[in-house]
This record gives sequence, C-alpha cells and structure tokens, in this order.
Amino acid sequence: MSQAPTPQDAAPHRPAHHPARRALHWIVAALVIATLPLGFVFTDFDNKPWTEATFGAGAFDALYDLHKSIGLLVLALMLVRLWAWRRWASPPYATPLPPQAEKAARFSHAAFYALLIGAALLGWAGVSAYPAPLPVFGLFEAPKIVAPDRALSGRLLGAHALFTFAIAALVAVHVGAALWHRQARRDGVFERMAPGARRGASQD
Ligand code: HEM
Ligand code: HEM
Repeated sequence: MSQAPTPQDAAPHRPAHHPARRALHWIVAALVIATLPLGFVFTDFDNKPWTEATFGAGAFDALYDLHKSIGLLVLALMLVRLWAWRRWASPPYATPLPPQAEKAARFSHAAFYALLIGAALLGWAGVSAYPAPLPVFGLFEAPKIVAPDRALSGRLLGAHALFTFAIAALVAVHVGAALWHRQARRDGVFERMAPGARRGASQD
C-alpha cells in the first residue's frame, strides 16, 4: 500500500542553513539551555546553603561565576551570529509556509537575537554596577562597563531577569514549533537546522 506523498517527499534537495550558522545555533542553544537553570537556581542567595551542602564549599560562587562566563560567551557568539546571518542569508523554504507562520518565525528569530544580546548586556552591566567580580572561565577578568551604583545595579539585574523569563518562554515555543514541523508537518523546516543536512539552495 503506497503512502500519500508528504511535502518532504516533494522536496528531495531541501535547503538548509549554512553549516557555520547551524554550528553556531547548536552551540548557543546548548549554552543557553545550560545557563538558564544556572541563572534560575544558582544566582539566588537563598539557595546557597543547599548548593554548598550538595556540591561542596565554594560551589555557589563557582556556579555563579560559570553563569556569568557562559552568558558573556553567549554574547560574543551572538555577535558572530549576527555577522554570519548577514553573510549567509537564510535559504528559501522548500515548502512555502503560510504567510502568518513565516512572519511569526521571522519575528521570533529576531526576538531571540535581541533578547539574548539584551539579557547578556544587562547582566554584564548589572554586575559591573554592583560592582562584583567578572572572572571569565577563570582566565581573565572582564572589564566593568558601568560605574558603581548599587541602585542602578538592582534595576539592571531586574531587567536582566525579565529578559531571561522571555527567553525561557520563547525557547519553549520555539522547540515546540521545531518538533511540530518535524513530526506533524514534515515540511523540511527542522532539517534546515539539522547538524548533518546538505545545503540544497546555497546562498553563498
Ligand atoms: C544570555 C545569556 C544569559 C542568560 C540566558 C541568563 C539567565 C539568567 C537567569 C534565568 C537568571 C535568574 C533570574 C531570576 O530568577 O531572577 C539570571 C540571573 C543573573 N544573571 Fe544571568 N543570564 C545570562 C547572562 C548573564 C551575564 C552575561 C551576566 C553577567 C556577566 C549575568 C549575571 C546574572 C546575575 C548577577 C544574576 C542574578 C540577578 C539577581 O540576583 O537579581 N547573566 N540570569
Ligand atoms: C534553546 C536555545 C535556542 C535558541 C536561542 C534558538 C535560536 C534560534 C534562532 C535565532 C534561529 C533562526 C536561525 C538563526 O539565525 O540561526 C533558530 C532556528 C531554528 N531552530 Fe533554534 N534555538 C534554540 C534551540 C533549538 C532547539 C532545541 C531546536 C530543536 C528541537 C531548534 C530548532 C530550530 C530549527 C529547526 C530552526 C530553523 C527554523 C527555520 O529555518 O525557519 N532550536 N533557532
């Protein structure tokens, strides 16, 4: 019994994002998925006693510093990503999306860039204004980008938290949409970002 053709069958050479953009996507995704819980759990001083009881003395500060380091790395990679996005444009969709869905996708992708860069800058500025140490993976101290001002630090870190709530919500919607494309629509959108995808329609 033959199955009804899917949009995937109709598009054997599905276009994919440039390999550099795919690599950056998955590296940043892993870092964000790691640093969100580090932020939610290990930047709250109420959690210091059980963090130290579970992971040992000094663990709270180490995990806090790891959060800041990963956040600064995300910022650097997002700037590279902005450049890569302009250098290697997104390929056209193999199966055109409904216009509203394409608009929503474009908006949510742009929102990721703005929220991730904004959150990292707010975190960096908030820590600078506190002022607290900024050791980057124990290798060097990042410069302070704002003069000491405890009240301003509180406002900047409050805004940082709001941005990160928005990022967490967007990640949930984004992953849901990616899986919907893969499992329900089967239209090749997931494969545009899959690690081993072949580039069908080059934008070089
Ligand atoms: C885009 C990357 C980042 C993400 C996704 C992120 C995520 C988070 C999250 C989820 C929280 C907990 C918010 C809350 O529950 O109140 C948090 C808190 C915090 N983050 Fe980040 N963060 C990032 C980058 C940074 C950077 C670059 C720094 C500093 C260099 C930083 C410093 C802090 C600090 C100091 C807190 C505690 C704020 C407070 O106690 O009010 N974060 N972050
Ligand atoms: C958790 C952090 C994540 C962030 C911040 C993120 C961000 C982004 C951004 C900004 C894009 C637009 C393309 C680009 O400029 O690179 C994108 C595309 C994409 N992402 Fe993610 N992503 C994340 C996780 C995931 C996960 C876990 C999946 C799979 C389950 C996924 C699947 C996809 C797919 C399939 C596309 C291509 C969509 C298209 O071409 O229209 N992403 N992502």
